[in-house]
Amino acid sequence: MALSIAFSAPTPHVFRPQNSTISSTLLQSFKFPRFWPWQKVKVGPLSVSPMGFGTWAWGNQVLWGYQESMDSELQQTFNLAVDNGINLFDTADSYGTGKLNGQSEKLLGKFIRELEGKKQVQDNIVIATKFAAYPWRLRPKQFVDACKSSLDRMQLDQIGIGQLHWSTANYAPLQERALWDGLVAMYDKGLVRAVGVSNYGPKQLLKIHDYLKERGVPLCSAQVQFSLLSMGKDQMEIKDICDSLDIRLISYSPLGLGMLTGKYTSSNLPRGPRGLLFRQILPGLTPLLNSLHEIARKRRKSIPQVAINWCISKGTIPIPGVKSVKQAEENLGALGWQLTSEELLQLEYAALESPRKMIQNIFQTRQVLLPLVG
Ligand SMILES: NC(=O)c1ccc[n+]([C@@H]2O[C@H](COP(=O)([O-])OP(=O)(O)OC[C@H]3O[C@@H](n4cnc5c(N)ncnc54)[C@H](OP(=O)(O)O)[C@@H]3O)[C@@H](O)[C@H]2O)c1
Repeated sequence: MALSIAFSAPTPHVFRPQNSTISSTLLQSFKFPRFWPWQKVKVGPLSVSPMGFGTWAWGNQVLWGYQESMDSELQQTFNLAVDNGINLFDTADSYGTGKLNGQSEKLLGKFIRELEGKKQVQDNIVIATKFAAYPWRLRPKQFVDACKSSLDRMQLDQIGIGQLHWSTANYAPLQERALWDGLVAMYDKGLVRAVGVSNYGPKQLLKIHDYLKERGVPLCSAQVQFSLLSMGKDQMEIKDICDSLDIRLISYSPLGLGMLTGKYTSSNLPRGPRGLLFRQILPGLTPLLNSLHEIARKRRKSIPQVAINWCISKGTIPIPGVKSVKQAEENLGALGWQLTSEELLQLEYAALESPRKMIQNIFQTRQVLLPLVG
């Protein structure tokens, strides 16, 4: 399924030159907008921007170095995104470390409320949150309660997309049914407008889709790690299943946790656990980073813009994580243009040439894994 775009605002003016000499001169100076705020993509009953923003870092000190002093910049980042047509924000009830647990949801709720005088904009924002399959959440009611707690933290009446954060099929198959029934219950109670999953492999994805369908609940989205660093057989199989069942694939970590921005090198690593991971992977990424750089230069885009555009061009909705106004501004430039099929092939070939790949999420079904849950 190609990413179908529903135009929900007036169709943009189409430039029809009369004179070809003038037209080529004009076209050279004509700059397409960096992004198209009127583009919307359907996720079940919802209309979302072709890219959302991820907020794992908003409250996470260990991996992302979050400090409460960052909140004002995060609010400006959120406002800039919303002002430019982004209406999809991904979060989770487990985001936020230690006493900051739930911080990402709290901040999103606060930022939405403080969009004063913008009732329509507020109503159009789609929060996609995820419910953790903690081992003590054993009954459907506990998932419904988890959903109510998320609503309390955000002070919202309804969540856009309620997602299961991961499947327990690999290690606690009996708990899996409670997750699914919990999702059905929160949908039936109207606590969520749509339901989705995250870290489900192809087999489990088909199973949950069929189970929900029997109960009259459409499965609208599947979130997986999907990027030029994570485009293996499973990702492609999941994408095919999504296309055939009208499920939207949401690409998480589209920038490979920052490795696909081009700003990190073996001698310039981020602090903390990411540094340890990047030290292993970055040395093998030279072909891919060179290719990203070459295309970015030719296209007058930046490396993160090309990496995110690749996810969009593959028919997915990427949700890059953003920590600053500058990053949000730059990532918005991933919209409004499209890589050619030759460029896509060049990037994919370079990715295959790069020996080390991203580790996969420990909770992704049918994978061999290292611990990294976002
Ligand atoms: N379902 C799941 O299990 C799961 C797992 C992971 C993530 N997610 C979701 O997906 C979202 C995105 O994934 P992610 O945050 O893991 O990784 P990502 O999007 O691949 O990378 C995001 C990080 O890259 C850096 N960055 C972003 N834009 C940049 C730019 N233009 N220039 C330079 N640096 C830039 C920032 O970190 P620095 O500035 O510190 O480098 C940012 O936090 C998360 O926020 C979360 O909502 C879900």
